[in-house]
Amino acid sequence: MRIAIVGCGYVFDFYMAMFPSHPELQVAGVHDIDAARTAAVRQHYGVCVYPDLAALLADGSVGLVVNLTSIESHFAVTKAALEAGKHVYCEKPLVTDLAQARELFALAEAKGLVLAAAPSNVFSDTVQTMWKAVLDGAIGAPLLAYAEFDDNPIYLMQPEMWRSASGAPWPYTHEYESGCTLEHAGYHLVWLCAILGPAVSVTGFSKMLVADKTDVPLHPADTPDFTVGVWVGNFDGSAMRDVSGLSGAAPVWLELMNYLNQKWPSVKPTSSARSSCGSTRC
Ligand SMILES: NC(=O)c1ccc[n+]([C@@H]2O[C@H](COP(=O)([O-])OP(=O)(O)OC[C@H]3O[C@@H](n4cnc5c(N)ncnc54)[C@H](O)[C@@H]3O)[C@@H](O)[C@H]2O)c1
Repeated sequence: MRIAIVGCGYVFDFYMAMFPSHPELQVAGVHDIDAARTAAVRQHYGVCVYPDLAALLADGSVGLVVNLTSIESHFAVTKAALEAGKHVYCEKPLVTDLAQARELFALAEAKGLVLAAAPSNVFSDTVQTMWKAVLDGAIGAPLLAYAEFDDNPIYLMQPEMWRSASGAPWPYTHEYESGCTLEHAGYHLVWLCAILGPAVSVTGFSKMLVADKTDVPLHPADTPDFTVGVWVGNFDGSAMRDVSGLSGAAPVWLELMNYLNQKWPSVKPTSSARSSCGSTRC
């Protein structure tokens, strides 16, 4: 399949590093609103650069658009690509607004297109192995799942100096402004919901603990950098989709995960994965 990439920032290089392992995917071209970035990646990778998003979407040879833009652009770029008849894979979080998430999934469904979003760690060796253990009954009936994702004190690790292979700076101020819940909660919610079924309820707490991570002014200045939550699932797999009582980022993630649970039963470990536990790669 020929794919086109929108957004050539820091994470773009990680995707480019992965493509040699997937010869079934050919990068038709890329686009970024920052001309300096498209010039840099054209020089670094020799990729084709579309002059604008319209030109990218008008390329009939492109079947899938990979959306690697900043979070604020996810909705508009994804919607435009779906309207142009392209399948979409979008970086996380797909959007930060529940109504927008529902609109995009409805659009994809109406057009018979696949809309998928990171994280896809459900395909990793670790998660496939855990999933196999649950399916095989190796741990009996699960009563409790514990998940932890710790960013560590990244602000002490000089993220201002981090550069991708083609020279994009790590967008650390944007990361602080978005916060850990929107940026990272999905990494665990994906596999919790995939293996154990949709959430029934979520109780959470979040707070900004370190106010002076950078001298650069942040907008907003008080996005939580610590979140802890209790996710309660239906371990019999039956769904309860009422997320209306939740606030902040949790409903968006849960809606996406519940959707994944209903629409993508095929991501469950394959028979080959089950027989060769621990050796499955996506
Ligand atoms: N940086 C990481 O380590 C990392 C890891 C995993 C996932 N992600 C996710 O990947 C996405 C991108 O992150 P990043 O770190 O590469 O950010 P970035 O800021 O380095 O890059 C984003 C790029 O998108 C471009 N862009 C923004 N709006 C656009 C639009 N409307 N049309 C075309 N181009 C547009 C920007 O000019 C920029 O070059 C985010 O959703 C982020 O959460 C980042």
